[in-house]
Amino acid sequence: MKTVDDLLAEGVQDRFVLLRADFNVPLDGYTITDDGRIRAALPTITKLVGGGAKLLILAHLGRPKETEQFGRDPKATLSPVAARLGQLLDQRVSLAEDVVGQSAHSIAGALLPGGVGLLANVRCDARETGTPAERDALATELVDLVTGGDGPPAAFVSDGFGVVHREQASVVEIARKLPAYGGDLVARETEVLRRLTGDPARPYVVILGGSKVSDKLAVLTNLLPKVDTLLVGGAMCFTFLAAQGHDVGGSKLESDQVETCRDLLGKYADTLVLPTDVVVASEFSADAETRTVSVGEIPEGWMGLDVGPETVSLFASKLGDAATVFWNGPMGVFELAPFAAGTTGVAEAVADSPAFSVIGGGDSASAIRAAGLDEERFGHISTGGGASLEFLEGKELPGIAVLEEA
Ligand code: 3PG
Repeated sequence: MKTVDDLLAEGVQDRFVLLRADFNVPLDGYTITDDGRIRAALPTITKLVGGGAKLLILAHLGRPKETEQFGRDPKATLSPVAARLGQLLDQRVSLAEDVVGQSAHSIAGALLPGGVGLLANVRCDARETGTPAERDALATELVDLVTGGDGPPAAFVSDGFGVVHREQASVVEIARKLPAYGGDLVARETEVLRRLTGDPARPYVVILGGSKVSDKLAVLTNLLPKVDTLLVGGAMCFTFLAAQGHDVGGSKLESDQVETCRDLLGKYADTLVLPTDVVVASEFSADAETRTVSVGEIPEGWMGLDVGPETVSLFASKLGDAATVFWNGPMGVFELAPFAAGTTGVAEAVADSPAFSVIGGGDSASAIRAAGLDEERFGHISTGGGASLEFLEGKELPGIAVLEEA
């Protein structure tokens, strides 16, 4: 894959560069609660700005519905992102009101060398996630924003690692229409994840959490034969516990996956490690009555919302002598204070472990920052939740494959 340094070596002064970033950050209203993904994009952005490029950034936020109008849906607007990016860069970031319309053209036309513009949430154009023909048409219109006139040829830089598993216009089709380069974040993420899929130092311990076993089945079946220990937490542990014969009360249970979990427990008895105690609540609320019970004693109607302290110690003991660790998915409902201790405890155990640790994006990365843990204590905090999982599943990621073809 050609890199952003190759592009800089060619020269970007006065050149339009379209950059795909992943700014899909968690928000509380208009407030960004974790700006990790924006900060992770800064190395590539500052290189391009420093080189004198006219930088036009493409990004999505959430999954806006087709009927939502630009700017009218608070969940769809990138305005908090433009403001935060401007603060971090210490320069104005102009935000277009549309993706390829009049506003986008006028923002692009007004860009000076070293200037930064952000297009509206690219998923507000339904063609972004549409049929191949629709995606192709949108990519053509994106190219029109940055070509024409007698300036130097435009380029495309892909640095939204969190979205490279999506076959979407601003990730894949655009890379076939402009000279395409991988940004620093994409390069670093793929290099680290290749270390895990190649010949990782052992013991190799994986921690999987999150709500659904069905979402993690592909990665479970792919990783189980390769790892030394796989620790299971999060709501998905209750389907495993049910498969072991426990009554999980009102906890989240995927009944149609119980048999699959039973098979995995049979086949990988020495590898899979389940919680031994859980924090249960009378209802899904931060104010609910809570208790810590062993997994065999979940009261009827109560739901498990976190792993318990004995489980945190058990998981920490497995992490203590690990050489490689990969963690994806929180251990409980860490957004609610009474159910955050399991995730925080496991995060601390990963930080204390001598292993090369990789945090697989999304919620786990946010949990680490929310717990105030120093990011330097982890080997790598990925910005891609789904993307890092699909990488470890051994799937080809379309946004990477297209850069390699280029
Ligand atoms: C993510 O949040 O994992 C990425 O931004 C991709 O978002 P998506 O799952 O909505 O495609």
